[in-house]
Amino acid sequence: MGAMGVGFAELSGNPTDRTVAYYEARAKGGYGLIITEVTRVQDTEFCTPLEPSLGSDQFSPGWKKVTDAVHAAGAYIFPQLHQPGRQYTKVMLGHDTSAPSPPCLSRL
Ligand SMILES: Cc1cc2nc3c(=O)[nH]c(=O)nc-3n(C[C@H](O)[C@H](O)[C@H](O)COP(=O)(O)O)c2cc1C
Repeated sequence: MGAMGVGFAELSGNPTDRTVAYYEARAKGGYGLIITEVTRVQDTEFCTPLEPSLGSDQFSPGWKKVTDAVHAAGAYIFPQLHQPGRQYTKVMLGHDTSAPSPPCLSRL
C-alpha cells in the first residue's frame, strides 16, 4: 500500500486509536506491505498538523500499537520518513525552513 496522508494523529504527532484501526483494517484487507503516510522526523517541521511523528522516543508506544496490530494481521509496515525541507509552508509554521534551498513557497 502506497503512502497516503490521512491525518489521524494527535497534534503532538502521537498515533491515535484511529491510526491503529486504519492500518489494522488495511492489513486485514490483504496488503502485504504498508507504507505509512508522511511521518515527520522533526517536530517543528511538517506539512499538515495532524501528520504523525517519529521525531523522538515518546512516540514509540503509540507506534508499537500500530505495528503490533499490523503484524498480527500478517502484514509488514514501513514508515515514510518525512522532512518537508523547502516545500514546507512558512505561513503555517511561522519560522524559516531548515532546508539548504530557499522555500518554494517563500512568496507566502
Ligand atoms: C489522499 C492522498 C494522500 C497521499 N499522501 C501521500 C503521502 O503521505 N506520501 C506520499 O509519498 N504520497 C502520498 N500520496 C500519493 C500516493 O501515494 C500515490 O503516489 C498517488 O496517489 C498516485 O498513485 P495512484 O495513481 O495509485 O493513486 C497521497 C495520495 C492521496 C490521494
